[in-house]
Amino acid sequence: MSKFKFPDSFLWGAAISSYQTEGGNFQSDWSLWEKEKGLEKAEDACKHYQLYKEDFKIAKELNLKAIRISLEWSRINPKPDEFDEVELNHYREVLLELKRLGLKPIVTLHHFTNPLWFGQIGSWHGNQAPDFFLKYLVKTVDYLKDLVDTWVIVNEPCVFVYKGYIEASWPPGNKSYLLAKKALDNITKACIDGAQLIRNIYAKQGLTSKISIAKNMRLFNPCPLGKVKLNAYAAKLREYIFNWVILDHLVSAGALDYIGLNYYCREFVTFKGLIGAECEHTDHKGKHNQAGWYVYPQGLFEILKSLKKYNLPIIITENGTTENSDEAYGQYLKEHLISLSKAISQGVKVEGYFWWSLIDNFEWDKGFSQRFGLVEVDYSSYQRKLKPVALEYAKICQENKIEY
Ligand code: BGC
Repeated sequence: MSKFKFPDSFLWGAAISSYQTEGGNFQSDWSLWEKEKGLEKAEDACKHYQLYKEDFKIAKELNLKAIRISLEWSRINPKPDEFDEVELNHYREVLLELKRLGLKPIVTLHHFTNPLWFGQIGSWHGNQAPDFFLKYLVKTVDYLKDLVDTWVIVNEPCVFVYKGYIEASWPPGNKSYLLAKKALDNITKACIDGAQLIRNIYAKQGLTSKISIAKNMRLFNPCPLGKVKLNAYAAKLREYIFNWVILDHLVSAGALDYIGLNYYCREFVTFKGLIGAECEHTDHKGKHNQAGWYVYPQGLFEILKSLKKYNLPIIITENGTTENSDEAYGQYLKEHLISLSKAISQGVKVEGYFWWSLIDNFEWDKGFSQRFGLVEVDYSSYQRKLKPVALEYAKICQENKIEY
């Protein structure tokens, strides 16, 4: 058995997002999308809006030091020029509860969902998108600045754009490379300008903030079957588009104080269409999780090493899985933490790790079928129950080391 030790100040946490857990978010473009497409509806989700104190108490009991939450834009800004103080105060209460428990918050301003009105005036490909988002950002950050110092402006911009504009399986559901480019450019602008605005708000108070995005990165490997050379070319192209373009841009604009990394799996790529495609062969070697993703802990190590070039601290803002057995959750956790600790020992500055997710939740177009939580949610009674992986994680968080 080997021991892997983590730095003393290491930030152990778990993440959630508003739409996936709160419930009652009917002013969001996702709510309309579920209806229009006949998907399973989030509706009450996990009732986290009401039960947040219970959820945070569990997090504390699991020895976590931090929680990543997101704010629901459609609650705070239900009409283009209207901000709802009741909702802003709700989030103040949420943050005060975290403070009372000594849990550090990392707060995301945009986690995939938009207000209905924003969807109707053109979503992220609309000309006014950055301006509207930045109004919400300024109002919200100003309101909560005394309770938060670490922000994620946007969660997984490339996933949002891919799902919304390339696959068109998420809102706004506009299949178009041109609109995809427009949306990504607008999000990039919103992040660069947003970072500056946040810094100004904090500087006026003599405070400092830490700003990033949560960047989903995959390890892209060419499919070893079929046209191997072309697959290799497509894998490189996908890696460049999905992993690096926006990061290079944001880092060179000085918009990031740290890198938020969401890592889940690797992807086998096949040469198809303009930007390659996820390979449909199902016979690649290696483990799959319940969602069919290629589990590849070594990929976390490789991606962390490749992020070293930016010379910025890194926080793993998401890593997790949905599985059919308790053993598989535990194995995923431990193997990824070993990869992480190897990267740290090779000089990569990783300051924290957030498991996705604290509680089971609404998994977008997959409804409630996938269960990423440390804590199981019974969707008929809303009772919470610890999964064995939660106890394994709690031990690691307490001892700051992992034995495997
Ligand atoms: C997203 C989460 C999602 C998780 C699991 C991440 O890409 O940020 O919202 O639930 O993956 O699919």
